[in-house]
Amino acid sequence: MPLIAPSLLSADFGNLQRDLNMMNESDCDWFHLDVMDGVFVPNISFGFPVMQAMAQHARKPLDVHLMIVQPEKFIAEVKALGAKVMNVHYEACTHLHRVIQQIKAEGMMAGVTLNPHTPVSSLEEIIGDLDLVMLMSVNPGFGGQKFIESSVDKTRRLRELIDRKNATALIEIDGGVNRETAPRLVEAGADVLVAGSAVFKAADPVEEVRILKQVGAVK
Ligand code: DX5
Ligand code: ZN
Repeated sequence: MPLIAPSLLSADFGNLQRDLNMMNESDCDWFHLDVMDGVFVPNISFGFPVMQAMAQHARKPLDVHLMIVQPEKFIAEVKALGAKVMNVHYEACTHLHRVIQQIKAEGMMAGVTLNPHTPVSSLEEIIGDLDLVMLMSVNPGFGGQKFIESSVDKTRRLRELIDRKNATALIEIDGGVNRETAPRLVEAGADVLVAGSAVFKAADPVEEVRILKQVGAVK
């Protein structure tokens, strides 16, 4: 069974407390928070004051996805949220190894996110240091985009790299995850599925989480 991390980017920002409480009552595992700076990605979402407010109502661990330049500047702020996972982009870190050690020193899980064009082989030298690798299966910046099909094969190749190196990193997939893509991703080796629009645009978001959570379960 995969871990399910609903992306609050697709929640109703006018009713965040309501939507957080709805997800608190669901089978979901983590809350996925998407931070955008208008520089690394062509959009701006929300920042630390809003996430502090969300953290007060969240009863699931926080998975913070920083789509920003120089994410290392904000390690202390992410830690102050009580986050479980801090995801930084491979493409945003010149000194990735140092950033990973700093995140781990703060007691958080260190995650590295790859844009669709960044090859799995870029992680060859650092995979053993990582707690999590997140593959973007859309170009980051917006919810509700079309799933990039080659992400299934990329997931399989990442699983091979992790196994070959005897590494323990979890595989998380972000973008276009829904009832149709989720089973194929889990079969390819995904451990954690982020889902924004599939959950929050569903007629019954709690039921949608339950369905995604059952993917791969023995019937
Ligand atoms: C995109 C974000 C995603 C987004 C996913 O930049 O990183 O987390 O919310 O949304 P869906 O599931 O709708 O593709
Ligand atoms: Zn995300």
